[in-house]
Order: sequence, then C-alpha cells, then structure tokens
Amino acid sequence: MAKISVIGAGMTGSTTAHWLAEREIADIVLVDIMEGMPQGKALDMTQAMPIIGKDVMILGSNDYADTKDSDIVVITAGLPRKPGMTREDLLVKNANIVGSVAEETIKYSPNAIYLILTNPLDTMTYMTMMKTGLPANKIIGQAGILDSARMSAFIAMETGVSVQNINCYVLGGHGDSMVPLTRHSNIAGVPLEKYLDADKLEAIVQRTRKGGGEIVGLLKTGSAFYAPSAAIAQMAEAILKDKKLIVPCAAYLNGEYGQKGIFFGVPVMLGKGGVEKIIEYDLNEDEKTALQNSADAVAKSVEELKGLVEL
Ligand code: NAI
Ligand code: 2OP
Repeated sequence: MAKISVIGAGMTGSTTAHWLAEREIADIVLVDIMEGMPQGKALDMTQAMPIIGKDVMILGSNDYADTKDSDIVVITAGLPRKPGMTREDLLVKNANIVGSVAEETIKYSPNAIYLILTNPLDTMTYMTMMKTGLPANKIIGQAGILDSARMSAFIAMETGVSVQNINCYVLGGHGDSMVPLTRHSNIAGVPLEKYLDADKLEAIVQRTRKGGGEIVGLLKTGSAFYAPSAAIAQMAEAILKDKKLIVPCAAYLNGEYGQKGIFFGVPVMLGKGGVEKIIEYDLNEDEKTALQNSADAVAKSVEELKGLVEL
C-alpha cells in the first residue's frame, strides 16, 4: 500500500484523510502540532473502516518520524481566513508554518510528491519548492480543481444539468483575480452561452472568483474544507495510479503562458512523476490580459515572501 502523510489535521487535513480512506489508495498519517488531536481523529476514522469496508491504516501523530518514506506529502498546516480577510493576509504567519513543515517532511520523505493546500496557495507552493529543494514537477498546489468545481457546481445549479456533463476550467492564481475561462468551458461539448445568457454567465464568473470568501462569510470560523480536500484526494489518486489526468493545478512555470519563476494555475497532466506536462491553451487577448493580471498578483506575493523569510 502506498503511504500519504497529511500535515495539519484541522478541517482540510482531516477531511482529506477521510476522502483518501474512502478511495482506499494509501495508508495515511495525520500530523499536527496539537497533542492528541490527530491521534483522536485517526482512531475515530480507523473505527469507521470496518463500517465502510476499507482496509486502510490511519495513524495520528505529532512526530514527523512517522511520515518516513511517504509517497505523497500533503501540506494543509496553517491558519485559515476569517471573514474580511484575503488569502494574502495569511502570508506572514503561514510562511513560517509551511517553511518549518517543508523542512521537517523533506528529511523523512525526500522522494515524495508534495501537494500544497495552505494559503496564500501559489506563494506557499513556491515556498515548499525552495525549502525542500525538490524539482518543480514534484511540487503541486491545489486551487484550480476547486475553483473549476465551484464554477461547475454553480452552472449545474442554474441549468439543472448533471455535474458530470459540465466541464469548467479556471486558471490563474488562487485569489480574486483568478480567471474562469468561459470560452473553453462547456456543457457536454456545447458552449456555455447556449445554456446561459450573458448576465447569468457573468454572475457565475463573479461568484466563482469569490467562492472561497462566500463560504468564509457563512462559516465565520474558518474556510471551505469538503471540496478543497476532495480535490487533493483526486490529485493523489491521479499520481498514485499514474492516470495522466489533466486538471488545473498550481505548477511552476518556466516560460509557459508567458510566465517564469512562479507557481500558477494552469492545466497540467498528473501522473507518477507529478506534473508530467503543462498544457497550453490558445488564448485570446482578453484572456491573456486577465491571466497576466492574476500572474502579477502572484509575483507580488512571492516578492513579499522573499522579503520576509530566507529561502
Ligand atoms: P484548520 O485551522 O482547521 O487546520 C489547520 C491545522 O494546522 C490546525 O489543526 C493547526 O494545529 C495545524 N498547524 C498549525 N501549525 C502547524 C505546524 N507547524 N505543524 C503542523 N500542523 C500545524 O485550517 P484548515 O481549514 O484546515 O485550512 C488550512 C489551510 O488551508 C489554510 O491556510 C487555508 O486557508 C488553506 N485552504 C486552502 C484551500 C485551497 O484551495 N488552496 C482551500 C481551503 C483551505
Ligand atoms: C477557498 O478557496 C480557503 O482558499 C480557500 O475556499
């Protein structure tokens, strides 16, 4: 059985473990700084396995030695947003947390692929690459699967069509300037504008961009966790099963989409090597401008990070 370590056993970390266990693709180690909490959650989940009939070992721990030889390391450790905060407001605190997590995990799992969830996502993914020293293809940020799923869910709610028929693609950074690509999205191959008038479609685009904030506003004590962690489970399965799955993720760009030196949401092919390919869409001028605005916001955040911590 493969081994996946999830660092941060809070809302997204424990829900990631839950979705992973349902998929029965790996044994799971849940690590947190809170004593007893990962152990308690892991024991509770272990006791659910006979009910759902999955042979998965789930261990809770405060000790990184238990993560040794993981195939995949998932980083969710860090603070979530509170109402009124942007993801960027988390930069200072989460940079220190993610930096220390990356330094600890790489000691025990130098061959793992690292999946990052902590916000600000694109910058924390960059930080993980710098701190682990791993090649860029082995470090992947989760944002685009979630943002695209939000757009798909809103379109399903509006049109009544099965979510299975809806293909949406949201690229760019995981911030309010993300870029929902309406021209590339479709319902069973039919362009979105055949189902939705322009005003409705624009409202869905705006709701998608602010999708994370909408949930923070409702929960008040934290941010989304079911959909983000389902996205991580999908990425982990694609990697472990070498599926060559094409999904939008934050990948390191070296000239693709006109960007260099940042992690940014683009369609990637996921397989056992991590990011095995970056797929480049044909974009029109408006789409290019929107992506550039989003890339500028990510680059600014990375510059801020460089001023804060030694990389
Ligand atoms: P949470 O507060 O429920 O859990 C975070 C956990 O990290 C806590 O249990 C805390 O004890 C732990 N932690 C803090 N410092 C640690 C350290 N040094 N080592 C190990 N564990 C440590 O928060 P939640 O909801 O799980 O969110 C986690 C992060 O993920 C936040 O930054 C949030 O903004 C981000 N997020 C990103 C999404 C994305 O799409 N990229 C979606 C949802 C959340
Ligand atoms: C979200 O989009 C918090 O980034 C997270 O829900």
